[in-house]
Amino acid sequence: MSDEPDLLYDGQQGSFKLADADAQDAGRLAFILDQMAARPAVQTLKTWALEQLAPGPADTAVDVGSGTGEDVVALAKLAGRAVGVEPSPGLRAEAVRRAGASGAEFVDGDAAALPFEDESVDVLRCERVLQHVADPAAVVKEMARVLRPGGRIALIDTDWATAIIHPADPGVLHRMVDYFLGQSANPYSGRRLRGMLAGAGLEISGETAATWIESQEGARQGYVAMMHLNALQGGVITPAEAEAFARGLHDAADQGAFHMSLTMYAVSAVKGPAV
Ligand SMILES: C[S@@+](CC[C@H](N)C(=O)[O-])C[C@H]1O[C@@H](n2cnc3c(N)ncnc32)[C@H](O)[C@@H]1O
Repeated sequence: MSDEPDLLYDGQQGSFKLADADAQDAGRLAFILDQMAARPAVQTLKTWALEQLAPGPADTAVDVGSGTGEDVVALAKLAGRAVGVEPSPGLRAEAVRRAGASGAEFVDGDAAALPFEDESVDVLRCERVLQHVADPAAVVKEMARVLRPGGRIALIDTDWATAIIHPADPGVLHRMVDYFLGQSANPYSGRRLRGMLAGAGLEISGETAATWIESQEGARQGYVAMMHLNALQGGVITPAEAEAFARGLHDAADQGAFHMSLTMYAVSAVKGPAV
């Protein structure tokens, strides 16, 4: 073995923060989003949200932070107009390419200042975006502003406190997770969805959750497989600890004993009629 630590990571890294939107490699972000979208738990919540929103042919439907545009295409099949708001130029271009002649539209924009008039949107969804936003409660109020009275909204997000990672040295894992949570804008987003919707004056109409369980390949390619690289970069673990962590995951996966799971939450709400 060489003197250099073997950091053992085969996957892709990327940032979904607004501040990084222009600088990101869209191919890499699309790859990560495709991996996420392939998880049954993610599809379960996407389907649930679409059922809650129930867009109709007269409706304008909006997906905030639309990524590769899969959900805007799904909305376009049911709604009169479907618009994805996405600040990353590369992801927007990829979404336009994938959407083809579906009728889905994509616009530049920030969730904190949506490019829509007051009360002009009938249904709105936002998935795994609020965790990247500095002031998510203000963003949800912005969503409430654009919803028309009687309009419907569905939010989906992860709560990173629900992450279970096995195996790992508890002390090393604690430092890695603490570092990860400190780097995230809003890591406990999942538990806050309900309160933020209620705080924006909306009436909760449904809530559910789904847990995704990482495959054994995830030990080498998924979120967990890059945590040690970030923690090492942040100086909270040593190269030897990073290598031991990665090697422990790989060995466990080789024996079919690796575990990582994470719970995502979805909440729907309705905007009451104007008084
Ligand atoms: C994890 S991805 C989720 C994408 C998509 N909603 C999905 O379910 O596949 C987060 C998305 O939010 C976008 N995003 C980040 N900050 C944003 C902001 N302030 N306003 C709107 N979108 C934002 C990112 O560019 C990225 O496309």
